Amino acid sequence: MNVVMIGAGYVGLVSGACFAEFGARVTCVDKQPERIDALKRGEIPIYEPGLDDLVARNVAGGRLHFSSELAGPVAEADLIFIAVGTPTRRGDGHADLKYVYAAATELANHLQGYTVIVDKSTVPVGTAREVQRLVRKANADAAFDVASNPEFLREGSAIGDFLRPDRVVLGVESARAEARLRELYRPLNLIEAPILVTDLESAELIKYAANAFLATKISFINEVSQLCEATGADVNLVAKGMGMDGRIGSKFLHAGPGYGGSCFPKDTLALIRIAQEHGLSSRIVEATVEVNASQKARMVAKIRQALGGSEADKRIAVLGLTFKPETDDMRDAPSLAILPALADKGAEVVAHDPEGMEEARGLLPDTVRYAATMEEALEDADALVLLTEWNQYRGLDLTRVREHMRGNVFVDLRNVYERALIEAAGFAYTAVGR
Ligand code: NAD
Ligand code: UDX
Repeated sequence: MNVVMIGAGYVGLVSGACFAEFGARVTCVDKQPERIDALKRGEIPIYEPGLDDLVARNVAGGRLHFSSELAGPVAEADLIFIAVGTPTRRGDGHADLKYVYAAATELANHLQGYTVIVDKSTVPVGTAREVQRLVRKANADAAFDVASNPEFLREGSAIGDFLRPDRVVLGVESARAEARLRELYRPLNLIEAPILVTDLESAELIKYAANAFLATKISFINEVSQLCEATGADVNLVAKGMGMDGRIGSKFLHAGPGYGGSCFPKDTLALIRIAQEHGLSSRIVEATVEVNASQKARMVAKIRQALGGSEADKRIAVLGLTFKPETDDMRDAPSLAILPALADKGAEVVAHDPEGMEEARGLLPDTVRYAATMEEALEDADALVLLTEWNQYRGLDLTRVREHMRGNVFVDLRNVYERALIEAAGFAYTAVGR
């Protein structure tokens, strides 16, 4: 089975390497030549645990290839996946489909023999049909079907998520396309991963509805965290008690600084726009987005309060910049809202992150300083703000932290620590909803 993956980003590279692991012959194509050159040299352009080994193994096995050119690989392909970005469009909040449509148009003239063209990018309902129309317009004689195969992997655990998915969704219109996709995913039969076959529109909407639902769970518990602060309840215990109900489930009920990342923020906005286009409103998702924005603002107020009412001239050590641990992705990270607000009010912000600092430099105010080590960030700090729960921040040596700092303010925005432990070490502890 010959597979082409258009887009060698977080999704394209992981999916491509995993399909190669399944035994397919995969070529990842990207329009950034430097990205392809790096991959050919064996350098992985993103940080994703385990990806370097997976790529190296499949390159060595002759199953995984990289190319800047579409023509050759597309001509040989049985399946072509479009895994390019669909960022929020400036101005109206909708998903920007220009990269998807450009990929569809670019590949059309190189098709040979029957090919299945698969949207893996997260795309609004109707995109697969538009891809179909564009390919047909560019190449009237091509033999092809379009399918939708949304991706549910999470960054930081992407390979495990891809190789052991809760389900695979296949939106198809022909038995031939379905058979080819089922063949590609056949190794998952061994672990009895469910495959849900739907029409194109349902597959496209499943992805948005799933992401919006998960984002809603997070905003819900973040709203409850405020109620906990007002009433003296502990949000960790409330979430635990809620999650023990099988109908609710314990996952995605961790209160924190608000969700970020390359998916939830943009996909919730896009869902709202899809509803509007159909003359509907998506009030629950609108509230989810609003609560998320206010949660980030609430974190700034929380830090200010912990510092005694003003962050001016205070040195704040921020541990963690990426939107979640085990990734270098800074897209829509809560740090991008929280740090500028602190710096704006005159705080001296010194940040540390195991993987995200290079990316963060171009996105955060110039006044933010970056520390090579966690200890350096903590030196003479008035406050420590734990913003992303990287493992190395979970087991801090509190005595040493206290020695490095000049103040004793400990703001735990991920509820990683127990209050008693932190207070016993001489800190004033602030968390979220506890
Ligand atoms: P990304 O920005 O990391 O990667 C996209 C890649 O596509 C880039 O390297 C870009 O150069 C390349 N590209 C764009 N146009 C191209 C073209 N015409 N030809 C060849 N290459 C082209 O994006 P991502 O995070 O991998 O996301 C891709 C899609 O997958 C999005 O729709 C996203 O919503 C969805 N998704 C992402 C995740 C995630 O965790 N990142 C999870 C599930 C779904
Ligand atoms: C998400 C979806 O989970 C995944 O299925 C989809 O394919 C892409 O988008 P990702 O953005 O990589 O994955 O990470 P995820 O683990 O979902 O976290 C997203 C954000 O929500 C992070 O900022 C995280 O810190 C936050 N979050 C998550 C919480 O605040 N509380 C939780 O309980 C879970």
